Amino acid sequence: MKAVIPAAGLGTRFLPVTKAQPKEMLPVYDKPTIQYVVEEAVASGINDILIVTGKGKRSIEDHFDKSFELEYFLKRNGKNEFLREVEAISELADIYYVRQKEQKGLGDAIYCAKKHVDGEDAFAVLLGDTITTSKVPCIRQLIDIYKEYGASAIAVEEVPREKVERYGVIKPKPLKKNLYIAEDLVEKPPVEEAPSNLAIIGRYVLESEIFDHIRDTPPGVGGEIQLTDAMRSLNRLYGYLFKGKTYDIGNKVDWLKTSIEFALKDENIRGELMDYIKRLLKEEWNDNK
Ligand code: G1P
Repeated sequence: MKAVIPAAGLGTRFLPVTKAQPKEMLPVYDKPTIQYVVEEAVASGINDILIVTGKGKRSIEDHFDKSFELEYFLKRNGKNEFLREVEAISELADIYYVRQKEQKGLGDAIYCAKKHVDGEDAFAVLLGDTITTSKVPCIRQLIDIYKEYGASAIAVEEVPREKVERYGVIKPKPLKKNLYIAEDLVEKPPVEEAPSNLAIIGRYVLESEIFDHIRDTPPGVGGEIQLTDAMRSLNRLYGYLFKGKTYDIGNKVDWLKTSIEFALKDENIRGELMDYIKRLLKEEWNDNK
């Protein structure tokens, strides 16, 4: 199965950081966000990845490209560990690029992948600003659902009611444990109109008929062509409460929390970081006394 990673958004929620750099390149601890996303696809058995980019996104291409100069420098200076790491990035998968020429929404960004996935029954979509962690990679869990049930599937998670307006939300009909039929979907509903608190997290396996539906979808919320709206026209869509954790890097506070959490997983710095956080909290507590 091929994967599509849309990474064309302007990242306005992250300004001014994203004025001249893509939000997908923001580091989460020691790797850019989009590298985690590519690694999830690769760990799921996907080797053909199309990244949908746009203006100002060149550094994404550079990141996954070979860097002869850097590799030569690292080799000459005996920095073998870094050398292996840098080489591995450019060998992760076959990565292709297409540019979304105008900011017309997520649905339109996915439509840019039509030619690349032509002839496939279905393809995977992983949003470039969302990281997931789980034993079995999230997109692999969805591929397994698609294979077992033969229809499009999206990952959902329960979010606090007051946060539903940030997401696409499904109207769920329970099928079995953790699996729902999405009877309807709403993009960024006001709390009182949300059909549930099961939010779309940014991992999808979509049958290729989605392209016809996107083409027929008028602009929705924010004047953009929404993938969520196009998915309403699919014959059948499964919502899967996936086993794992989601990190939405598209907003400042969640990005910061994720960076800290991921850094704390590194045994080499965990102790020092914990001491620092404890000291900060103590100072904060003393200041507020
Ligand atoms: C997009 C999708 C939305 C989904 C969200 C997950 O919205 O349109 O359905 O719930 O990603 O992060 P965005 O965050 O790009 O506004």
